[in-house]
Amino acid sequence: MEQQIKDLRLRAGEEIRSSATLKELDDVRVKFLGKKGELTGLLRGMSQLTPEERPIVGKLVNEAREEIEQLITQKNSELKAAELQAKLASERIDVTLPGRRVHDGHLHPLTLTLNRVKKIFVSMGYSVEEGPEVETDYYNFEALNLPKDHPARDMQDSFYITEEILLRTQTSPVQARTMERHKDNEPIRMIAPGRVYRRDDYDASHSPMFTQVEGLVIDKGISFADLKGTLEDFSKKIFGERTKIRLRPSFFPFTEPSAEVDVSCVMCHGAGCKVCQGTGWLEILGAGMVHPDVLKMSGYDPDEVSGFAFGMGIERIAMLTYGLDDMRLLYDNDVRFLKQF
Ligand code: FA5
Ligand code: MG
Repeated sequence: MEQQIKDLRLRAGEEIRSSATLKELDDVRVKFLGKKGELTGLLRGMSQLTPEERPIVGKLVNEAREEIEQLITQKNSELKAAELQAKLASERIDVTLPGRRVHDGHLHPLTLTLNRVKKIFVSMGYSVEEGPEVETDYYNFEALNLPKDHPARDMQDSFYITEEILLRTQTSPVQARTMERHKDNEPIRMIAPGRVYRRDDYDASHSPMFTQVEGLVIDKGISFADLKGTLEDFSKKIFGERTKIRLRPSFFPFTEPSAEVDVSCVMCHGAGCKVCQGTGWLEILGAGMVHPDVLKMSGYDPDEVSGFAFGMGIERIAMLTYGLDDMRLLYDNDVRFLKQF
């Protein structure tokens, strides 16, 4: 009996030590101390002992029970502590981590440029007009002195929706639309910004969709000197005082005389590069004195008033002001590029 108790203590001790979970430990407790457990079984066997033996064995059984209970309590708190540690580790929140930054959006470089252009002309007293991007053949061409089959239409080959409706190739149709809204040779001083579309290449200085700002001034006694002075003033305001511009004689069916205006290339400073196609200059706009027939078609009397008009490319102006060597940067939507503005 004594040997049996000794064995039991050893086995219980071992099984308690090797329990890896609280569940395992509880199974060990039931196995040794439970109602049908081994130690309880030993106590029952005591009825067969002599009265002398009983107190001795009883004492041993109680000692064994106490030892096993103590070992279990100890192991129990060890396992509980380990479980808590594991839980803490898996649910750890590092309150010292810096917060995640919300990135602010901002205006696109083209919009920024357009806003600057608008601001300059609004400060000169111009109103801002709008016209549709899906335009009729009449406003895009005919009202601008480009009848059907006029050869100058080829330079602005477009995306046609029907024979009579197309994506506008220029902002110039807003000239006629604005003139038609006025009566009695009323003076006009407006700009019309917006998108235009052409079947053009997509290269360092061209895009099939781009942005123009049209300008139109009509009043008594408006001359080419007013046009030149306005464009010089504008160029200095947008590109800086030292910018050089040059006017080249040109042709537009809706202006006479006509000119194209170039700005000294900011990329190569005149040496010639891929942006200016080796010329040292970048064309930014077309302009001229409004053709008398155009005035007449939209209800103005060319004997009473005269006017000038211009149409500038905003992508080219953005390239010059930000020093971009490729127009496609403006449309690629590469955040590494856009973040810089
Ligand atoms: C015109 O579109 C005329 N409507 C301008 C005008 C208005 C003349 C009023 C007289 C009176 P042009 O096709 O040259 O002209 O285009 C004007 C400007 O748009 C060019 O100087 C250039 O800066 C820009 N541009 C033209 N084609 C493209 C293109 N494919 N991609 C980007 N910019 C372009
Ligand atoms: Mg041109």
